Amino acid sequence: MAKQYRITLLPGDGIGPEIMSVAVSVLKEIGQQLNLQFTFQEAPIGGAAIDLTGDPLPSESLETCRNSDAVLLAAIGGFKWDTLPSHQRPERGLLGLRAGLGLFANLRPAKILPQLVDASSLKRDIVEGVDIMVVRELTGGVYFGQPKGIFTTETGEKRGVNTMAYTESEIERIGRVAFEAARKRQGRLCSVDKANVLEVSQLWRDRITQLSQEYPDVELSHMYVDNAAMQLVRYPKQFDTIVTGNLFGDILSDAAAMLTGSIGMLPSASLGASGPGVFEPVHGSAPDIAGQDKANPIAQVLSAAMMLRYGLNEPEASDRIEQAVLKVLDQGYRTGDIMSPGMTLVGCQAMGEALLKAL
Ligand code: IPM
Ligand code: MG
Repeated sequence: MAKQYRITLLPGDGIGPEIMSVAVSVLKEIGQQLNLQFTFQEAPIGGAAIDLTGDPLPSESLETCRNSDAVLLAAIGGFKWDTLPSHQRPERGLLGLRAGLGLFANLRPAKILPQLVDASSLKRDIVEGVDIMVVRELTGGVYFGQPKGIFTTETGEKRGVNTMAYTESEIERIGRVAFEAARKRQGRLCSVDKANVLEVSQLWRDRITQLSQEYPDVELSHMYVDNAAMQLVRYPKQFDTIVTGNLFGDILSDAAAMLTGSIGMLPSASLGASGPGVFEPVHGSAPDIAGQDKANPIAQVLSAAMMLRYGLNEPEASDRIEQAVLKVLDQGYRTGDIMSPGMTLVGCQAMGEALLKAL
């Protein structure tokens, strides 16, 4: 009998629906090949949900996610909703989803593919062979710390406040995920903080150092975040696995992503202690090219592959999809973001068709 999986699809905004439709056709194809039966349930999130209900994460959407085996998300946000007050912004839907499902660990791999070395804005010898995993804490730190808000002081002046805070247990659980990930990779973990200035980072550093005693096979180093930003563009090959807090991880994962030539290539996984994970591209909703069949669907397709590997434990299906991606790149197909001379420029749909053929 076919194995059954309930997948919640959150296409979201901008290019979300177009890239999602490619990922779904790839999943259907792989399902047929390997006798996996996917039941897809679509739910609104972000701007699309604001337009429908006024709420960027309607409770039915969160419920649908909770009742599934894995969640595949595309992207949220767009110009149209940028002027709404912060609690009604599409981004709130994403943060609510992470918090609501307890997804404290965000895995963001940045691996350069040999086919795309020349698409990077950095020199070949700097980026060739780069293979980094950023483990970002996702439900704490300054994104969620209390107090937060815009308050009025006694003198009548407005004051904006966010709080960067981590408890020991929050540091420990993300630390464990990172040490385990490093163990499965090259065994090197770099913890990134701002311990020369921030108390929260001092605690982070102390706790990660203590934890390292339980992982003697992993080589731990520490780096300040400003230095890490510099090292990522100076000599990125020094990094294997990076672990860091929510805000630093947000920033460094974009920088790491860009080493690979295009942020349009990179998937991510957000995982909790139990329950369904959320799998999504690192890139955003690219409203400037939405609906024009220009988007690169590969990060979305690779997110589906990550979902199969980390969320559903179907490594064979995941391998096949990743192989198909390499194959279409070998065949010379490129969307605009990764285009280089001599290659064949294709749109989102045509890239999807090439992927299906390669499968
Ligand atoms: C990301 C995004 C989000 C974040 C935004 C859209 C809230 O930049 O997933 O990296 O800051 O976490
Ligand atoms: Mg980001």
